Amino acid sequence: MRLLIKIWPLFVCTAIWLSFAPVPDFTDMSEAEMGRKLFFDKRFSKNYNISCADCHLPTYAFSDTTAFSKGFEGKITTRNAPPLTNLSGRPYFFWDGRSPSLEDQVLHPIQHPVEMGMTLKELTKRLKADKFYVKWFKKHYGKLPDANLAARAIAAFERTLETGNAPIDRFMEGDSTAISFSAMRGREIFTEKGKCFECHFTPDFTADEFKNIGLFNGKNLNDSGRFSVTKKTEDMGKFRVPGLRNVILTAPYMHNGMFKTLEQVIDYYNEPAAVVPNAINRDTLLNGRLNLSSQEKADLMAFLQTLTSASASRK
Ligand code: HEC
Ligand code: HEC
Repeated sequence: MRLLIKIWPLFVCTAIWLSFAPVPDFTDMSEAEMGRKLFFDKRFSKNYNISCADCHLPTYAFSDTTAFSKGFEGKITTRNAPPLTNLSGRPYFFWDGRSPSLEDQVLHPIQHPVEMGMTLKELTKRLKADKFYVKWFKKHYGKLPDANLAARAIAAFERTLETGNAPIDRFMEGDSTAISFSAMRGREIFTEKGKCFECHFTPDFTADEFKNIGLFNGKNLNDSGRFSVTKKTEDMGKFRVPGLRNVILTAPYMHNGMFKTLEQVIDYYNEPAAVVPNAINRDTLLNGRLNLSSQEKADLMAFLQTLTSASASRK
C-alpha cells in the first residue's frame, strides 16, 4: 500500500502520456493489407458463414484440402479449389479460363449461388456500414467502399502471393547441394522421359494453355472444361495447365480433385488409359505408357517436393 502511495504520480503521468500518444492509424494499411483483411471477411457470404479463406486455406498455399469445397449453405462446389499463388501476370483464371482478370474473378465467388450467394449491392451495403472500411476506402480510393473497389483490393493482395526461394530455385542458381540426387534424377524424368515439361514449362511449371490429359469421358467424368467457354469441339475436356509450385501442399489434385496423392497422379501419367480407359480427346503426348520404374516414380516425387517455397504457404 505504501508503495502504491509512493508511485501514484507514475500512474498519472502514464495516463497523461497515453492520452497524447498517437493512436495507431489503421487507415495506413496498404491496399494489399486491406485486400487480405477482406479475404478473411465472412460478411462476403450471404449468411455471414464463410470468407474466401474458408475455401482457399492459407496453410495449403490457399487451396482446399477436399476435392470439392463447401459453400455458405454447406452445398458443394463442382470443381476443386486451386491454390492462389503466382496469379500476377496470368492471362485468365479458373480451370476453364472463363475470367480475364483478377478484379473480375473476385466477383464470381461472391455472386455464385453455391459459394457465397451474395449480390454486389448487398455486399456494397455491408461494406458501407463499417466505419473503418469507409475511412480506409475514402483515404485510398477517394470513394465510399463498394464491391468493385473491394475486388480491386483483394486482387492487390492476391498479387503478393508469389512463390520463390524453393530448393529448386537455389539449385538453379548454382547451389548443387540444394536438392537430393534423387530429385536431380526426377528433374530429368520431368523434362525427358516423363514429358511433363512439354506442358508444365514456365518457371512456375504451368503453361497458360489448355490441355486435355484425359479426365473427361462424357460419363462419370463429365466436366467438359474449356469447351463450356468456347463451345469448340476441340476444347472438350481441356483444362488450364496448373502451376506445380507448392504442389505437395495442394492435394487433392486435378479439376475434380480425383487424385488424393501425388503418387496417384504419377501412376496416372505412367499409364493414363489404365485409369481412365475411355477418355475423349486425350492429348497425344499421353498416348501409351511411360514405363516408369518404381525408382523413377520415387525420383519424380522427390523432384516435385523441391518446388515448395518457404514463403508462399502462409501469408
Ligand atoms: C465455396 C468455396 C469457395 C469460396 C468461398 C471462394 N472460392 Fe475461389 N475458388 C473455388 C473453386 C471451387 C475454384 C475453381 C472454380 C473453377 O475453376 O471453375 C476457385 C477459383 C478461384 C480462383 C482462380 C484461381 C486460378 O488459378 O485460376 C481465384 C483467384 C479465387 N478462387 C479467389 C477467390 C476469392 C478472392 C474469394 C472470395 C471473394 C473466393 N475465391 C471464394 C472455391 C471457392
Ligand atoms: C499434355 C499436357 C500435360 C502433360 C504432358 C503433363 N501434364 Fe500435368 N497437368 C496438365 C493439365 C491440363 C492438368 C489439369 C488437368 C485436369 O484437371 O483435368 C495437369 C495437372 C497436373 C497436376 C495436378 C495439379 C493440381 O494442382 O491439381 C500435377 C501434379 C501434374 N499435372 C504433374 C505432371 C507430371 C508429373 C507430369 C509428367 C509425368 C505431367 N503433369 C504431364 C497438363 C499436362
